[in-house]
Amino acid sequence: MANVLLEDVSKYFGDVQAVRDVNLEIKDKEFVVLVGPSGCGKTTTLRMIAGLEEVSEGKISINGRLVNDVPPKDRNIAMVFQSYALYPHMKVYDNMAFGLKLRGIPKKDIDGRVREAGEILGLTSYLDRLPKHLSGGQRQRVALGRAIVRNPQVFLMDEPLSNLDAKLRVSMRAELQRIHRKLEATIVYVTHDQIEAMTLGQRVAVILNGELQQVENPLNVYEKPVNRFVAGFMGSPPMNFVKGTIRKKGAVYVFEAEGFSFEVPVDLGGLLAGHVDKEVVFGLRPEDIWDVPSSNWIEQKAQLEVVVDFRELMGSDTYVYVKIGKTPITGRIGAMSDPKPGSKYNLVFNLRKIHFFDPATQKAII
Ligand SMILES: Nc1ncnc2c1ncn2[C@@H]1O[C@H](COP(=O)(O)OP(=O)(O)OP(=O)(O)O)[C@@H](O)[C@H]1O
Ligand SMILES: [Mg+2]
Repeated sequence: MANVLLEDVSKYFGDVQAVRDVNLEIKDKEFVVLVGPSGCGKTTTLRMIAGLEEVSEGKISINGRLVNDVPPKDRNIAMVFQSYALYPHMKVYDNMAFGLKLRGIPKKDIDGRVREAGEILGLTSYLDRLPKHLSGGQRQRVALGRAIVRNPQVFLMDEPLSNLDAKLRVSMRAELQRIHRKLEATIVYVTHDQIEAMTLGQRVAVILNGELQQVENPLNVYEKPVNRFVAGFMGSPPMNFVKGTIRKKGAVYVFEAEGFSFEVPVDLGGLLAGHVDKEVVFGLRPEDIWDVPSSNWIEQKAQLEVVVDFRELMGSDTYVYVKIGKTPITGRIGAMSDPKPGSKYNLVFNLRKIHFFDPATQKAII
């Protein structure tokens, strides 16, 4: 297996800069997920690592070897795409074996590798079937099998699960993690789905407009987003944002917005010192906005009476949709709460989980 190093990598398509100055080291055996909205440059980055796209500026190395000018077939990588494109007239076994045959690998070795991959992927009893007699998840596994049998240094995966239905995606996510552990493989995985990124990645690289925003383990990205984009992109429903102003009253910092204000916990207030009397954006995730009965345990909180717009009963909990001033806000409250649209309702804000962003730079202040 191997590590992959991107140094100051950029990609231009004519006037369009698809990838901007990316610096990223993917360690040996690491599972890194590139995530970001459509068109942010994920596929282009992956294709440059694969050698399917030329690097405009910068360097890409695999295992310490500069590969900018190395053709794809000599990079010892395997790519798995969204469209699994199996050969319809070949059985599962032959679909997996085909690439190895082309490379002139001895039949006995091919057989060993195909059977081992079949074992890992739970396809042993399907080796004699044609793709059309497989489910979507099984076909996707065959596509993975084609990559596994090549025994590559690095797996590159571009939205491999997005053709599957929601349930299958969840089970394939679990399977991919298992396969990663078993193969001890280096995997670079591309998705626009933040849940896939959170659940699969040992580290997540969030991209916007071709630029890396934050590269960290998923929980850090979730808990400590470096800017408003990352904060809003990771998490569902997304983080709430409310514009307001920081005031200082004595030693206390206060956030003031239309129809809402609270005292910032003392230990966090100091971080706002440079923002007194300036506009800021307050951020809080839905799961940090509670109903009164279930918020007893919260140590530092603010409470606000709101009017319920509507609610969604999820079974496990309830999402309540309200407004602060004109800003729509989502809270996640107990499953037993069923606030009636139009009624008044008290929401509790967990102040240990607050975020603030500078509206000029979009950067996180807290
Ligand atoms: N061959 C090309 N010629 C010109 N522009 C391209 C080409 N390939 C990609 N682009 C542009 O580069 C940018 C990044 O594209 P890319 O396919 O890498 O995005 P992505 O993050 O994979 O998006 P998606 O989630 O939709 O797959 C986009 O603006 C796209 O239009
Ligand atoms: Mg793409």
